[in-house]
Amino acid sequence: MDLKSRIDAAVSKAVRHGQAAPAPAKLAAALEYATSPGGARIRPTILLSVALACGDDRPVVTDAAAAALELMHCASLVHDDLPCFDDAEIRRGKPSVHRAFSEPLAVLAGDSLIMLAFEVLANVSGEDPLRSAQLVMTLARQSGMPGGICAGQGWESEEKIDMRAYHRSKTGALFVAATQMGAVAAGQDPEPWGELGDRIGEAFQVADDLRDAVFDVETLGKPAGQDDRHGRPNAVAELGIDGATQRYHDILSGAIASIPSCPGEAMLAQMVNMQARRLTPSTTASRA
Ligand code: IPE
Ligand code: IPE
Ligand code: MG
Ligand code: MG
Repeated sequence: MDLKSRIDAAVSKAVRHGQAAPAPAKLAAALEYATSPGGARIRPTILLSVALACGDDRPVVTDAAAAALELMHCASLVHDDLPCFDDAEIRRGKPSVHRAFSEPLAVLAGDSLIMLAFEVLANVSGEDPLRSAQLVMTLARQSGMPGGICAGQGWESEEKIDMRAYHRSKTGALFVAATQMGAVAAGQDPEPWGELGDRIGEAFQVADDLRDAVFDVETLGKPAGQDDRHGRPNAVAELGIDGATQRYHDILSGAIASIPSCPGEAMLAQMVNMQARRLTPSTTASRA
């Protein structure tokens, strides 16, 4: 099975579990709407690639980790689009969850996906109790306070934003979760894998800033020019298109150089390069 099918199957299985009787119908539909067909699935793709590079000796645990990470990511987007955050009408080319359903259902869908993520991880404790607990810990740390997604979103309510902490928490944290959870799922120590996730997250943020500045809403499938609109400092404002593109490639080279030694090291480097090309800002610039 290719990585995308493996991720989609794991996410669908988790969502179906959340939709079982006696679930209320609209909220059950909102869970599906928020998670499928989904976006680029870049975080679980990285997670699976790291697990495979480390041997993937417990695929059931790896699948649970990939699903949990993507559910958390989808939850963060549902909440991020709410009127009290970015007030975005469109996500992944369709109306955002609060637009398609309602604000209460969007709050609850995000909440439910977060709970479901941890339930999926706890559920593989029979398979491997230590890995299950380490996965719960890693995902919690990269999602909450003081340095996870909640912290990242929280920075937007401060008068003075610590940009590095903001981007690390808002965007980088789930990439650190991706590499570390991939390592844990395959029975490895997560610590050496943090740097790779951190660097990929930094590169992703620069790519996202470029896409936000260069693309229109149709191409992006979500509102464009958001950084300007919200007056958020970003790589394009700081360095211009060419400077930000150069920085993107520099960070990626550092990311590849930081891959810990493991049996699938070469394959993993290839995967990072391939994912990087999908986001390549030089392509995006030429399409503007
Ligand atoms: C969007 O992430 C959120 C951030 C920029 C941090 P993605 O671009 O990975 O979203 P999807 O899942 O592909 O829609
Ligand atoms: C969303 O960040 C990231 C999180 C929800 C943590 P942004 O608001 O910058 O990303 P988009 O543009 O809505 O995807
Ligand atoms: Mg936001
Ligand atoms: Mg947003």
